[in-house]
Amino acid sequence: MTREEALDSVKANVGNENLIKHMLATEAIMRALARRLGEDEEEWRLTGLLHDIDVELTGGDMNAHSRLGADIAVELGAGKAMAHAILSHNEAHGIPLETKLDKALFCADPLTGLITAAALVRPDKKLAGLEAKSVIKKFKQKGFAAAVSREQISQCSEIGLEFDEFIELGLAAMQEIAADLGL
Ligand SMILES: [Fe+2]
Repeated sequence: MTREEALDSVKANVGNENLIKHMLATEAIMRALARRLGEDEEEWRLTGLLHDIDVELTGGDMNAHSRLGADIAVELGAGKAMAHAILSHNEAHGIPLETKLDKALFCADPLTGLITAAALVRPDKKLAGLEAKSVIKKFKQKGFAAAVSREQISQCSEIGLEFDEFIELGLAAMQEIAADLGL
């Protein structure tokens, strides 16, 4: 599957612009993680891009979410590793995170929400001037973007990244595509 095919499928299955942006942000972070860890950039970015493709199709049914997404990814040509990462990122299934790809998606997913929220409280609502130390400060404020799982983000240690580096990498990755994110 090409990146264009994956994005076309996302756009065909998702109407909510913010959800599409979330997947673009996850794609950017996953690609940066792959580069940092010497993994397959194409595989990792496409995993991020596709991971929530079924959210609207499954309509809030957490038992269906990510099962359908994994099936769609396989139809598009995803291999077993990508399908497993998409499937296991939904904790409702209780499927253990096994590979580095699984673990990377799991911790990258909520980081997009924290960074987006940190940008939106700035006067200019932009990513450009946002610094990693501000994101880290927001992380420590439990009431800020309270739905963002701090525990899940902290699991970056499972892929061998220090917390601060993970935040810096995620922020830089999202800043690179700020225009696409409207931030
Ligand atoms: Fe997600």
